Amino acid sequence: MSTSLPTAVTVRAPAKVNLRLDVGPTRADGFHPLSTVYQAIGLYDDVTAAPADAWSVSVEAAGEVEVSEVPLDAGNLAVRAGRALVAHHGLERAARLHVHKGIPVAGGLAGGSADAAATLVALDRLWDLGTTDADLLAVAGALGSDVPFALLGGTAWGTGRGELVEPVSDAGSWWWVVLPDARGLATPRVYAAHDALGLGRDLARPDALLAALQAGDPEALAVALGNDLETPALHLRPDLAATRDAVRAAGAMAVLLSGSGPTWLGLCRDATHARAVVESLRAEGRTVLLAPGPVAGSHPVVHA
Ligand code: C5P
Repeated sequence: MSTSLPTAVTVRAPAKVNLRLDVGPTRADGFHPLSTVYQAIGLYDDVTAAPADAWSVSVEAAGEVEVSEVPLDAGNLAVRAGRALVAHHGLERAARLHVHKGIPVAGGLAGGSADAAATLVALDRLWDLGTTDADLLAVAGALGSDVPFALLGGTAWGTGRGELVEPVSDAGSWWWVVLPDARGLATPRVYAAHDALGLGRDLARPDALLAALQAGDPEALAVALGNDLETPALHLRPDLAATRDAVRAAGAMAVLLSGSGPTWLGLCRDATHARAVVESLRAEGRTVLLAPGPVAGSHPVVHA
């Protein structure tokens, strides 16, 4: 094996869904305490990093994903991640980042967080920084609540504001139909609506859901799913209810808003059932993706 550094590294990071998203009352720092169960699903962004004199990012759509709303300046989460890793190591370096985006944007699927996580891993490899896992998770957590999970992947219980992640046992091989919406929904607006509606619960470990995952039991999982942001998201966007009802009518075992929305998820019994639900929704002219879960977290796919 050559000891020279690669000229470019590509890392793949998955979308996440929240199988439960239990939200507590606002904390002093403005964030909300969460008890959530994340699952990484088979929709991916690939980030390619190469050394450069200045930071830059470009974004390319994979399939039908709409990428025009993704910022290409210093506010891009991949660039912020790159700068944060360099600062963590006390270095002065820059990279050119290219994002191949298969995760719908502003959809509640943590696509921006996936890009941040992929960038951390890509730059760590590109420059052979040897960042410890604990440090990667800490840098990730400072970038956004969902970024540590995008590193980890699989299925995990998230606490704190979502950044504290603990892998959980998941014996299932789950199939999700995923219905993105043409218009994104900004996460802070959904949390603000949650507060305005006077919502916020006491948090506990989601035992029924964790047991359903451990048993790989789709019937038990279907009744244990839940998302406290569904009510505020529907309050802001009542039109979203029509899509939810269509997924139910197409035969999904359960329908769930993904994170802060507006993407809906339909749980299917197996791959055959999922394909039938997809066909039925596509026949109505709807945009539908099909994704298995759980899948791996951020991992290198190409070294040049
Ligand atoms: O952590 P992240 O940058 O993804 O959060 C985006 C926004 O979502 C925050 O600025 C905050 O408004 C809201 N949020 C929250 N409580 C959380 C996570 C996110 O209020 N636990």
